[in-house]
Amino acid sequence: MKTLTILKPDDWHLHLREGLVLKNIIHFTSEYFGRAVIMPNTKTPITSIDSANFYKKSILESLPEGSSFEPLMTMYLTDDTDKEELINGFKNNVFFAAKLYPANATTNSSHGVKRIENLYKIFESMEDNGMPLLIHGEVTDSDVDVFDREEVFIDRELSPIVVRFPKLKIVLEHITTSYAVDFVQQNYIGATITPHHLHINRNAMFFGGLNSDFYCLPVAKRENNRLALIKAATSGKECFFLGTDSAPHLRKWKAFCGCAGIFNSPVAIESYLTVFEEENSLDNFEKFASLNGPNFYNLPPNKEKLKIVSRPNKIAEFIDVVEEKNIVGQIKPFHSGETLKWEIDGIIN
Ligand code: NCD
Ligand code: ZN
Repeated sequence: MKTLTILKPDDWHLHLREGLVLKNIIHFTSEYFGRAVIMPNTKTPITSIDSANFYKKSILESLPEGSSFEPLMTMYLTDDTDKEELINGFKNNVFFAAKLYPANATTNSSHGVKRIENLYKIFESMEDNGMPLLIHGEVTDSDVDVFDREEVFIDRELSPIVVRFPKLKIVLEHITTSYAVDFVQQNYIGATITPHHLHINRNAMFFGGLNSDFYCLPVAKRENNRLALIKAATSGKECFFLGTDSAPHLRKWKAFCGCAGIFNSPVAIESYLTVFEEENSLDNFEKFASLNGPNFYNLPPNKEKLKIVSRPNKIAEFIDVVEEKNIVGQIKPFHSGETLKWEIDGIIN
């Protein structure tokens, strides 16, 4: 039996939701990750210091007892973002970063930004104060093909931003294309890579009929892009780090409305490891999962260690959402019903 021991990882892009779903899913992350960057696209987006503090409190209250998990809060940028609120929140350690969603790019992003140039004054202050900018990198114009939206965003929006704000700490989130892989490396920005984009290409959404289980945003692209992402993630290069983009949707909504998002937090580490093993790159996994992120953000890595062993690991078909011992909903995890080759053994202090 092979064993791998790495410093405890962090998740640099996570959707925890609210209320009952939050309470039911948080342990999948808090058990094995030291920190996570919490996405602000809650039903009412997190756009103020007060709402971030309130959301953080509800996250902390949902944690299993004795957990040392640290949620890193983000502020959702809108056309009306108040610069003082943003920078004060950052200086007072309420906000870890700001999140840019182009309007209507994804789940709960109708409040997102319509004209990114209007935020340039805000980017200037963020650059001066060392506040990171996390970007959902897709244009939303209906005349741009959905599979081209990341590349068009890079050319149209991101390129001018990196030229104009060379010191701004930028993370291009959940990258899906070889074009993004190249851009990130050439422009000294960071990028998160999800487990699902390492496993599926766009065929997955059409296998056995229209299949919303594999629909997320940005959508998975052609196979050549998946291969470029695998090469990037497993390279150990400092600019690429772990961000699951785990985005739970109750089964009833996912099945009826096909909402975008893949729930992978119950299997994230095992899912990534499968790919690293196939690439003969297990040695680089700790860099991707536990070192490159903290290094990018100038934070110390976690101290505890995570032990993972190679043994058959059957993934549940559904995760129940429970309220007072009654099952009130279900969420389908990534790799539902599959048997993976790795399993987490536990934390070593
Ligand atoms: C995310 C969600 O559901 O909140 N969905 C997704 O497909 N990734 C939003 C996002 O990160 O785009
Ligand atoms: Zn996301």
